[in-house]
Amino acid sequence: AGAPVTVTVTGAAGQIGYALLFRIASGHLLGPDVPVRLRLLEVPQAVKAAEGTAMELDDCAFPLLTGIDIHDDATAAFDGVNVALLVGARPRGAGMERGDLLSANGGIFGPQGAAINAGAAQDVRVLVVGNPANTNAWIAAQHAPDVPKDRFTAMTRLDHNRAVAQLAARTGAGVEDIARLTIWGNHSATQYPDLSHATVRGTPALEVVDDEAWVRDTFIPTVAKRGAAIIEARGASSAASAANAALDHVRTWVTGTPADDWTSAGVVSDGSYGVPEGLISSFPVIARDGELSIVPDLEIDDFSRARIDASVAELVEERDAVRALGLV
Ligand code: NAI
Repeated sequence: AGAPVTVTVTGAAGQIGYALLFRIASGHLLGPDVPVRLRLLEVPQAVKAAEGTAMELDDCAFPLLTGIDIHDDATAAFDGVNVALLVGARPRGAGMERGDLLSANGGIFGPQGAAINAGAAQDVRVLVVGNPANTNAWIAAQHAPDVPKDRFTAMTRLDHNRAVAQLAARTGAGVEDIARLTIWGNHSATQYPDLSHATVRGTPALEVVDDEAWVRDTFIPTVAKRGAAIIEARGASSAASAANAALDHVRTWVTGTPADDWTSAGVVSDGSYGVPEGLISSFPVIARDGELSIVPDLEIDDFSRARIDASVAELVEERDAVRALGLV
């Protein structure tokens, strides 16, 4: 085994943190041969709970886990970080306006971006899970001028995985038979889960499904509103599935997408597909040699065009609101 990889997890005492840390420490983030050093960042009032989680991590005696540090200070937490998982965020409270939500999160992700800029390792990779994930990732990136913008990503892998599972269930295929599915836009109810390039055992998914109404009226809303359905059923928001998606996102980034397939991730736009340059929007993404790139030259039909534009318009509004609030 080589030198340990430093993984910083924010919101470590939260429910996603609890579902995530044990799997990171058991090798599900970077593989069974890579030792990890964990840095947990929490707000001061949750540090004690994070210490309790660290005690349990110790009690697992994970061979790959070489150390755990707990911080309530971002600068220390991101010192030397290779993989930064930004999970902790300010949730939308009852009656909270969007401006308040963006301000509260700007106050978290701005300083965290600056701390990453100050102390991260050269190869740092950042995944923002905390909502509004795309805009939080954008804010963090704006505060990290020395870190290449393509190192800042936002999580839409949970939406991607949900869409794969829904299509597999509908077609009776295995999840491993599904390829080239895409989540476009914002990680929000406006996201566009796109089957127009997807395949089921190599056959176009839309041919296999052969039911436009199902795609429009069942598949898309089921995927886009799945988070709310989980809350309704479980009495708490998605946690284990979100943690699983975060592991998938980073592992895919590092180890690559399979030939003839891609994944979905919120990445900085290069202007492709009419998405304004610089926005962090979900795209079909290929990972190769540790780098992410947007799948080029896909044909976008009118239905897809309208759905992508609607979600991207929301991202533009969020970005403009953040600028108007002076958060970047
Ligand atoms: P939670 O409320 O259980 O935990 C959040 C934790 O973050 C708390 O322990 C809190 O103390 C901590 N925190 C708050 N501000 C912090 C700061 N400045 N620095 C460090 N820690 C801080 O929430 P849960 O369920 O773990 O979800 C976390 C976030 O992930 C939420 O924003 C949620 O909306 C988002 N999420 C995103 C998904 C996605 O697909 N992108 C899927 C599911 C959840």
